[in-house]
Formats: sequence, C-alpha cells, structure tokens
Amino acid sequence: MSNDPYADLGNASDEMQLRLLEAMIARAEDPKQIAMRHAYLSKVNLPAGAKAVELGSGPGDVTRDLIQVAGAAEALGLEPSSVMVRAAAARHSDTLGLSFAVGDAKATGLADHSVDLVALHTLLIHCPDPEEAIAEAHRILKPSGYLTVFDEDPPSVTAAIADNDPFHPVVDNLIRAYVHDRWLVRRTAGLLLQSGFDILHRDGHLYLPAPDSPYFLTIIDRGADTLLAEGVIGEELAQGIRTEARRRMETGHFFGSIAFVGIIARKR
Ligand SMILES: C[S@@+](CC[C@H](N)C(=O)[O-])C[C@H]1O[C@@H](n2cnc3c(N)ncnc32)[C@H](O)[C@@H]1O
Repeated sequence: MSNDPYADLGNASDEMQLRLLEAMIARAEDPKQIAMRHAYLSKVNLPAGAKAVELGSGPGDVTRDLIQVAGAAEALGLEPSSVMVRAAAARHSDTLGLSFAVGDAKATGLADHSVDLVALHTLLIHCPDPEEAIAEAHRILKPSGYLTVFDEDPPSVTAAIADNDPFHPVVDNLIRAYVHDRWLVRRTAGLLLQSGFDILHRDGHLYLPAPDSPYFLTIIDRGADTLLAEGVIGEELAQGIRTEARRRMETGHFFGSIAFVGIIARKR
C-alpha cells in the first residue's frame, strides 16, 4: 500500500481525514480552481437527463459542478472516506439531483453502460494501479460516454522565490509524502488510449493563486509537519517554516504555482 494518505483515506486517522478535508475545501473554494473546473467541464456536451459520477469526490464541489457546469441531471460522488462523504452531503444539500456515498473507484457496484459522464478530478495521481479505476470508468460508461480527468503535475508544484529558498525542500517533501505517482499525469493520455478511450481535448491549466491562498498555506504547513513527524527537523524549525509562509503572505511576497492537466475523453 502507498504511503500517500489519499490512497487509503477511509482507513486514515480521523485527524488526517479532517486535515485533508480542510485542505480540499480550501482548494475547491479557491476562485482560480473554480475557473479551471469551469474551463474543462464546460467542454462536455451531455444529452438531456444525463447521469454523472465522480470517483474520489472528497468535499463534493466537483460532483456538484457536474450538474451546475457540465449540465448533468443527476450526479453521484463516490468516496472511501466517510468523513468526506458526510461533509460533501452537508455542504451541497441544496443542489437537486446530487448524492454522495462511500465507494471505491475500482469497484463502484454501478451497472455496466449506465452513466453518461465519469469525472476523475485529482484522483489518479493518488491511486495505486490507476488503470483499474480507468477500466471501471470504461465499464460503467455508456458507448460514447465522457471521461474527464484532471490532475496536477506534481514536479511543477513550487513555492520557491529564489535558488536557495528553503521552501524548495518543504514542497518536495509534501509531494513525496502526499502523492502516490508524481509522473502519472504525463502518462495519463496514453493510459486512456490503451483503455478504450479517444482523447477530445488535453489542455494545461496554470494555477497561480492569490498571494494569500489558504490552500497553499496547507501545502507549506503539511510539508513542514511531515518533516517534523519524520524526525528530520524539530518543532522550532517547523514553526519557523509556518511563520515564514505567513510573513510572506501578509507582506504580499508569497508565490505558489501548480500546473494542472485536464483531459476530456470519450469511450470508443
Ligand atoms: C485529492 S482528493 C480530491 C477530491 C475531489 N475530487 C476534489 O478535487 O475536491 C482525492 C480523493 O480521492 C479519494 N480516493 C482515493 N482513492 C480512491 C479510490 N480507490 N476510490 C475512490 N476514491 C478514492 C480520496 O479519499 C480523496 O478524497
């Protein structure tokens, strides 16, 4: 099993599930993230009454967008973490046609050829054996059904502002601890082609949040806390890293960016 806590979140401690819920909400509510989701989800062209599923739905904002942006009539979010499922249901209780349940992307229990759209939004880089989730999406999709895949390119994540910036190793450490396969997004199109999909669009999206981004603060804090938990640094240095991120944010000197790749594919 992977060390990436997202890979087995249903069995992680409540503390870890709540921490990642907080990080995922901060990211989902970031206006630049909302704009990127709109940019790729508005490229699907669903039939009336379409059914959509998000696998790995986390706090549920992307599942909600499958109705509000992609135009599905119904959307189901499946997710192994019951903490995430409860939070998603509570956060989006006002959206008609939306539901959430505990489930596994590799064995959804949904019928063959029953869904018009499957969304995998920042799931695959956290999945050991991602081809199994892609095969499950293929099985449940109707012929010509849409698969959308959106993932970050982890080697692109940076918060450094100079060659010798200590945020280099902090961010590298976060990626090492929180991503199962840091190169996957560069192989995803090939995996989809060999799994029975045609690629309609593959676009890059640069995420350059505001200099006081709450999501990027979770990246620095989690990077520092992982180094602390592993005994690499002590509490004083961990606190210094957290304080430095806040200092940069308060003075407008913080920089963070991530390249994402969005793919719209159709079942062949
Ligand atoms: C980085 S989060 C993304 C959540 C959501 N898609 C979003 O972007 O806000 C990845 C999610 O995938 C879930 N996940 C990981 N492995 C999974 C699997 N085998 N089946 C379903 N979900 C899974 C994790 O529990 C986590 O909530």
